[in-house]
Parts: sequence; C-alpha cells; structure tokens
Amino acid sequence: MSFSQPIRLVPHGLRNGSAVDRRKVNYLRISITDRCNERCLYCMPEKYAGWVPRDELLSYEEILAIVKVGVSLGFRHFRVTGGEPLVRPGVVGFVERLIGLPGVETVSLSTNGTRLPELAEGLWKAGLRRVNVSLDALDPQRYREITRGDIDPVLEGIELCRKLGFSSLKINTVLLRNRNEEEIWPLAKFAASRGLVIRFIELMPVTRSDMLAEENFFSVEEAKRSLEKYDRLEPVNLKLGLGPAKYFRLARLGGIVGFIGAISDSRFCDGCNKMRLTADGKLRPCLGDHAEWDLKPCVRPALDRVRLKECWEAALAAKPLAHSFREGYQPGRVMTAIGG
Ligand code: 5AD
Ligand code: SF4
Repeated sequence: MSFSQPIRLVPHGLRNGSAVDRRKVNYLRISITDRCNERCLYCMPEKYAGWVPRDELLSYEEILAIVKVGVSLGFRHFRVTGGEPLVRPGVVGFVERLIGLPGVETVSLSTNGTRLPELAEGLWKAGLRRVNVSLDALDPQRYREITRGDIDPVLEGIELCRKLGFSSLKINTVLLRNRNEEEIWPLAKFAASRGLVIRFIELMPVTRSDMLAEENFFSVEEAKRSLEKYDRLEPVNLKLGLGPAKYFRLARLGGIVGFIGAISDSRFCDGCNKMRLTADGKLRPCLGDHAEWDLKPCVRPALDRVRLKECWEAALAAKPLAHSFREGYQPGRVMTAIGG
C-alpha cells in the first residue's frame, strides 16, 4: 500500500546532505510490546494474529542495556510506545528505571489511554511527567468505529492525568476521511477547554491494513481549513516536545493545535532526531524505511557491549535523510511491531 496516487506531492529535494548536518539524532522511541487492547482501523486488522511470541520480545533488562549504549552515543530523550505500552505487565517499574538511568533527560509515553485509570497514578509516582493520549473521536460511536474500543476509560484517564498535573499531556488524532472529519472541531474544543495541546496526524502507510488507502487520507491542510470555519489559526513559534508538529493558536478559543503532515509536508524529515527500537529488538533509523539492525544477538544470550555499540553506530550512520512514503513504500509489518 502506498499513497503514490493521486496525492500531489512536492518533490522533497532533501537528499543533498544538508538536512542531516542539522540533525542531532538523540531521541529513541521504544516499543515495549506489539500487543494492544484496541484495534484501530489504521493500525491493525481486527483479527490480527501475527503477534511476536512473548519470548522474542526484549526483556526490560535488555531494553535498558540498549538504552545505556544509546545514552553513551548522545541519546537523551526516550518515548515508551507499543502496541499499547500499558498492556505489558511491569511497565510502571520499567518507566521508573528508565527515568532513573544517568544521562536520560526526558521520558514520555504514548498510550491509547484505556488503562490510564488504573496506571496513571503509578506512572506519576514513578516520575513520569509526559503523556500523549490517542483520541480519534469524541463521539463514543465514532470512537468505537475507529478503535473498536470504549471511550469512557480514555476520557477518565485523560481527566486523571490532568488532575495529577502531568507537565506535558497531549492528545493525538489521526485524520481519517469520512470517519472523523466532523470530530476535528469538537476535539479541538475539548482540548482547548482543558488546556491540552492536540495534534492532528496524517495517515501514514506504515502498516498492513486495508484502511491505508488513498480514499481515507485527509491532509493536515484540509484539517486546518475545517478548523478555520470556526476560528482563526495563528501560527505560533512553539517547539513542544521533540517531534515534527507545526503549531497554531486558535485565536478565539485560545487552544494550541498541532499538525503532523508526514505525507504532505515536503520538509517533514528535515529536523528528524529520532530512531525506533522495535519490541523484538530491531533498531530502526526511520519509520518509513525498511532498514533495521537486529540488536537481540548483542544482548542475548549475554550482553556484548562492544557489538551492541557497533550495531548502534551502524544504524545511526545509516539514518536516511527522509522517509520513503512518497516513493511507493510498502509496509513490511504492522505498526504495532514497529512502535507508533
Ligand atoms: N498513521 C498515522 N498515525 C498512526 N498511528 C498509528 N498508526 C498510524 C498510521 N497508520 C498513531 C497513533 C498514535 C501514535 C502513537 O501513532 O494513533 O497517536
Ligand atoms: Fe492499539 Fe495504538 Fe494501534 Fe490503536 S493505534 S490499535 S491503540 S497500538
């Protein structure tokens, strides 16, 4: 699946070396599980059964050994993802240990929010202060159509995080034509009225799912236009978090909305500072490029620090200047295995 037709895209012209010089790759997204308790249309087939066998997942110990080497190479920022990270047993203790590693400056977590009612307090006590919650619709029926899940615990979880006082609490919404176009303004209002930042994300062809077809794609430009029917968007020069989002202020509502135009923004990859560690131990320099380095043989059956560092360095050196989503990229495995 690719979006080669008919989205018209400006050639990104980034493959000339300049972009990489400006990039300091220091941010690792760590997928701790490929499992999830929801089934978002754009992420996983409803009857998905291709789970990574449990003993092939990295142990927390192995992940921390990998992180330590990353820190020695300048990595400072870490995001825990999945699948759904909060379904893996022991996640709170893992987050606490990750936060405690010398050299680790920021730890954040991306979640679908369904388990926050049980876990938010423990995560807060573990020292976590940054959480992104996926919320693709406010209407419970639409939410269910997109995620096949129940919105109530998610809203409860967001509320709990607000009360606890997380310093960064953001909402992520994946844009889907004919599914949540009408939710954009209600979601923006929901976020603004709670003082939360919301980001609208373009659908990316990162997984094997029928949903990832051209007709379901809804660009951030269209999302902006749909918000502009209700309010004025003023560009703000904000760097919230570490990602590629562009931020605007809703003049009347006062809320901040971000747009992640991975497909339509031709300069999207310019400042990319991140790599990914998959749940089964592959270091992946770019979400939209198949190259991966298998780190598992460096940590199992025993830790080989020298080899681990060599693999890390090889992956870093091979980080592409830009993703290949516009060049007919064909996803090789489901997003949950790579880490959202
Ligand atoms: N395109 C864009 N975003 C996606 N996510 C998962 N799959 C896709 C996709 N195909 C998002 C989730 C979450 C974040 C971790 O990644 O909704 O907000
Ligand atoms: Fe689960 Fe997130 Fe994938 Fe939805 S997008 S199925 S919540 S991992």
